[in-house]
Amino acid sequence: MPASPDVDLLIIGAGAAGLFCAAQAGQLGLRVLLIDHAPRLAEKIRISGGGRCNFTNREAGPANYLSENPHFCRSALARYTPQDFIALLQKHGIGFHEKHRGQLFCDDGSERIIQMLKDECEAVGVQRWQPCTVAAVHALADGFELETSQGTVRAPSLVVACGGLPVPKIGASDFGLRLAQQFGHEVVTPRPALVPLTFSAESWAPFAELSGLSLEVVVSAGQGKQRTRFLEDLLFTHRGLSGPAILQISSFWQPGQPIEIDLLPSLDLAAALREAKGNSRKQLGNVLGEWMPARLSQTWLKQQGLDGSRPMAECRDKDLETLARSLKQWQLTPAGDEGWKKAEVMRGGVSTRELSSQTLESRRQPGLFFIGEVVDVTGWLGGYNFQWAWASAHACAQGA
Ligand code: FDA
Repeated sequence: MPASPDVDLLIIGAGAAGLFCAAQAGQLGLRVLLIDHAPRLAEKIRISGGGRCNFTNREAGPANYLSENPHFCRSALARYTPQDFIALLQKHGIGFHEKHRGQLFCDDGSERIIQMLKDECEAVGVQRWQPCTVAAVHALADGFELETSQGTVRAPSLVVACGGLPVPKIGASDFGLRLAQQFGHEVVTPRPALVPLTFSAESWAPFAELSGLSLEVVVSAGQGKQRTRFLEDLLFTHRGLSGPAILQISSFWQPGQPIEIDLLPSLDLAAALREAKGNSRKQLGNVLGEWMPARLSQTWLKQQGLDGSRPMAECRDKDLETLARSLKQWQLTPAGDEGWKKAEVMRGGVSTRELSSQTLESRRQPGLFFIGEVVDVTGWLGGYNFQWAWASAHACAQGA
C-alpha cells in the first residue's frame, strides 16, 4: 500500500475531465493525485464515437449546451476552445478528420487520446491510484481528507470528476452527486440524455418491421420559444426510435410529451402529391416510393388504411392531404427511453447555482471543485460533451 503522498490537489475520477485537469494542474506546478475506482483507464473515451472518439466540435459554443443556467458554460468554453484541443492533438502527432457538421474524430481510434492524456499527466508527475475506492471524504480546516482502499490522503483542494450515470457497467456511479449533496449542493434531477426513445409494444407493433431503416428527418419537441428542432438521421429499431435525430431530441423531450417528425423534410409533400395526381397512370404506392424508402411507404399506407395500388387520379384530395400531414407532422408520444445502459450522457447533475463559472469551485466549500459531466451542463451529440470536459477541467486547473 503506498504511503500517503504529499499533494496539492486530489482528483476523484480519471476520465476525460479528471485526466485533463490533472495534466493542466501539473503543468502549473501542482502536485496531483488522481483516484479512480475502475480497473481500466478512461473507459468512456475508449468506447466513444464508435471507438474513434468524437473529441470536439469545431463549432462548440454555449448554444450547444443544456443547463438550468444556459450562461454558466460560457466562461470556461471561451477560455479553452476546440482549437486549443486540436493544437494539443497536433503536438502529439495525432491524426483526425471531420465527419459531419464540425465533428472531429481520431483517425487511429480513441486509444490515442487516452495515451495522449496519460503522457501529458506523466510528463508533469501526476500520481494515480487505480483501481482505488473512496470510502469517505472529510472537510478539514485547511482542505480535505479521503479514506480510500489505498490509505488516507489529504490535500488543500479536491476536484470531483466522477462523470454521470450512463453505462454503469464501465464504472459510472452517483458518487459525485452524493458528494455534492454531502456539502449542501443542490442536484438537478439526473435523467438519461442522448438516448434512444421507446414506445409501448402495442403502439410500436406496426413499425417494428421497419427496424434497421434509416432516413434524414426533422424532429422537434417542446412548445413555443422552447421548441427545438434537429435535421439529422433517424433510425427505426425493434423497440422504438434511435439515430442522431432521436438522440439529439431526447435531451429536450419531457416524459408524457409528444415529439413531432417530418419524414420528408426537403419536400412540400402536399403540393407534390397534388401534382402527381395529374399523372393518372401512376399508383399511389409507387409515387410515394420515389420520395422515401419503399418499406416505409408500404408500412405507412397500410397504417393509413390506403391502397398503394390505387391510381393517383382516383385518390381523393382529402386522403392525399391527410397522408401528407401524417408524414410531415408525425406526432408520437414515447413511453420512455432506453435508460442509463444506452444513454450517452446525463442531463442534470450538480446545480451550477453554487459553483463559480470561472473556476468551477464550490461557493459552499472553498477548495472543492466539480467538473465535467457531473455538473448540470449537457452537450448536444457531436463532440460537445468532451469539449465541456476539457474546458471545465482547464478552468478548474487555473483556479485550483
Ligand atoms: P467520465 O465518465 O469520462 O469519467 C468519470 C470517471 O470517474 C470514470 O473513470 C469513472 O470510473 C470514475 N468514477 C466514477 N465514480 C467513481 C467513484 N465512486 N470513485 C472513483 N472514481 C469514480 N462525448 C463526446 O463528446 N463525443 C463522443 O464521441 C462521445 N461518445 C460517447 C459514447 C458513449 C457510448 C458514451 C456512454 C458517452 C459518449 N460521450 C461522448 C460522452 C462522454 O463520454 C462524456 O461526456 C465524458 O466522458 C464525460 O467526462 P467526465 O470526465 O466528466 O466523465
